[in-house]
Amino acid sequence: MIVGVLNQKGGVGKTTIAVNLAACFSQTGRRVLLIDADPQGSALAWSAARQADPDFVVVGMAKPTLHREIAVLAKNYDVVVIDGAPRVNELGRAAIMASDLALIPVQPSPYDVWAAAETVQLIREAQQFKDGLRSAFLVNRKIANTAIGRDFHAALAQFPDTPVLDVALAQRVVYAESAARGLSVPEAAPRSEAARELQSLAELIIANKERLAA
Ligand SMILES: Nc1ncnc2c1ncn2[C@@H]1O[C@H](COP(=O)(O)OP(=O)(O)O)[C@@H](O)[C@H]1O
Ligand SMILES: [Mg+2]
Repeated sequence: MIVGVLNQKGGVGKTTIAVNLAACFSQTGRRVLLIDADPQGSALAWSAARQADPDFVVVGMAKPTLHREIAVLAKNYDVVVIDGAPRVNELGRAAIMASDLALIPVQPSPYDVWAAAETVQLIREAQQFKDGLRSAFLVNRKIANTAIGRDFHAALAQFPDTPVLDVALAQRVVYAESAARGLSVPEAAPRSEAARELQSLAELIIANKERLAA
């Protein structure tokens, strides 16, 4: 399965989510490849900041041909996670075309809703060429029980072909703290709420995949 963490907007949490999802999948015993498809190389920088090798492989592949090379790259892995590039260009399109599931992180802010339209449109275009490509919003940096949170869900409903995942990730300092040490959240704080949310997210993605395959 190839999960692209994709959004043409920067700063929405693509790298944070891609790294931590890769860590969660790998904790379940799956063979995991994390592809850094952003020329900025943030996921590569994370892996370089580590003392120990991660228990999954991280490679840089910011290439417009990613979608053509993905089958060969993915061959020896159970799950591939792609950390997508910001901006609408061939790199963004290639990352979408390479994915089975396009996970679109969005923060509870009107700016993120407006920017999401662009990513949703790119995915719709890609779906014309790739039948099995599915997409979903993942709410990131959620702040519990706020009015903005409720308005935000209503605003996302304008994209009826893009469901919002039941699991959301809350705003928590452990994300930056762990990344600064080159660690994933499950490594740095295995019993934290953030780790639990990430594990639920990984389980939800796997369960969805198995349901569709059945
Ligand atoms: N759930 C979260 N809680 C707190 N901070 C977060 C969360 N998700 C992301 N961040 C922070 O937001 C910033 C941008 O995240 P990043 O993953 O680099 O986004 P992108 O890859 O989309 O540009 C980083 O400083 C990261 O630590
Ligand atoms: Mg990034």
